[in-house]
Amino acid sequence: MKSILIIDDDPLIRKTLTSHFSKEGFEVLLAEDGSEGLQKYEESFPDLVLLDIRLPDMDGLEALRKIKERKKNACIIIMTAYDDMKTTVEAVKSGAFEYLVKPLDYVELDLTIDKAFQMRNLEDKLSYLVEEKQKEYTIDNIIGHSPQMREVFKLIGSVADTRTNILIQGESGTGKELVAKAIHYNSPYSREPFIVINCSAITDTLLESELFGHVKGAFTDAVYDTKGKFEIAGKGTLFLDEIGDISVNLQSKLLRVIETKDFMKVGGEKIVKTEARIIAATNQNLKLLIEKGTFREDLYYRLKVVEIKLPSLQERKEDIPELVGYLLEKINRQLRKNVRKIPPHVMKLLMNFPWNGNVRELENALTRAIILAKGDVILEENLPIERGEKKLLSKEHVSLKEIEKKYIQHTLNTTKGNKTQTSQILQISRPTLDKKIREYKLDI
Ligand SMILES: Nc1ncnc2c1ncn2[C@@H]1O[C@H](COP(=O)(O)OP(=O)(O)OP(=O)(O)O)[C@@H](O)[C@H]1O
Ligand SMILES: [Mg+2]
Repeated sequence: MKSILIIDDDPLIRKTLTSHFSKEGFEVLLAEDGSEGLQKYEESFPDLVLLDIRLPDMDGLEALRKIKERKKNACIIIMTAYDDMKTTVEAVKSGAFEYLVKPLDYVELDLTIDKAFQMRNLEDKLSYLVEEKQKEYTIDNIIGHSPQMREVFKLIGSVADTRTNILIQGESGTGKELVAKAIHYNSPYSREPFIVINCSAITDTLLESELFGHVKGAFTDAVYDTKGKFEIAGKGTLFLDEIGDISVNLQSKLLRVIETKDFMKVGGEKIVKTEARIIAATNQNLKLLIEKGTFREDLYYRLKVVEIKLPSLQERKEDIPELVGYLLEKINRQLRKNVRKIPPHVMKLLMNFPWNGNVRELENALTRAIILAKGDVILEENLPIERGEKKLLSKEHVSLKEIEKKYIQHTLNTTKGNKTQTSQILQISRPTLDKKIREYKLDI
């Protein structure tokens, strides 16, 4: 049952409101003055407070502030007479949800209360979503114990509470976006937006209007005024992915925003302020781009106030077993499967594979192996990784025949048992393939 606390010194108002709300199925709590109101609020934290702005013992504004101190998102509706409008405006500025003028209009009262509960509902949902994101992007979900990753964790911890710009560098799939989100969701601004812009995916003019917004008529398709991501991000984070691909023209504009913390919309004349934090990421070597003259050195230094370098998987092989364990759990949960066993020689193979696409490639390989698995074991033949040389290196004393057998089986698996295709890939004749299938007793 929803509860309402009515704080009003007028007994008649208390009586009529009690009868109104009881009929509507609310639990009604009553207080005659500010201090009783505060006491009742603390005892039961009602869902909503109807607060008279003029109270015998204290100013309604003071009561409002005190309630808000107890609970930041307390929902308070002010009841007011015309002659205390100034205080009422002040109250709304201090966080009152709405104000209603006495004598109360009950239809308006019910509508306002409905609106307040809807708003409360949305706020609860938002809090839930933010908490979920925070859980998803805790540092615990970034796997690794290698010295390089420990360094990364230290940096995330030290920058999360600051507003400094950050540059994340690392090969494709090393977790740049994951780290950017971990910083955002562990910062005091985690309820503000985290906005991703991929600077390489769109044309220069589109990117400019994406970043800064545009005014109606700025270009042919600009039918409405639109807000840019700098504005939408509020006090949150703007994640500029693939920053190395941004044009020199936009680089100067970006540099200006970072320096002045304001900008103008495309075609606009009004100055718009921004408080967003910038996290930029790239898999390119920006220093080389600077030497080539395609990236501004001053922008580079503005962005890399703090620089986070993410190691490739090859540089942190020791983290692979832990990562594999974590990814298997994650994928099995997503796919509702139960393929968790990994034979030691398969783990060795995974540790020695080059993984040019890093964690993302490893995750894709494991996803495929889980989908293709018949039992609860990750099988070597279901992993899309090179055999031959790698295998020889990872497994000692393997005969040529053994490799041939496995490789033919692998090719048969990838062609789903299509012999014509298999013989073409292996560049042997169909009869030779048939002979080998019989000899090695292969599955088709
Ligand atoms: N250390 C890690 N622990 C757990 N998962 C990780 C780790 N690093 C990356 N991942 C996972 O790998 C995938 C790729 O990560 P992400 O998208 O952050 O990489 P990226 O560096 O932005 O890649 P790209 O350069 O291709 O955009 C994601 O699913 C991410 O959750
Ligand atoms: Mg990325």
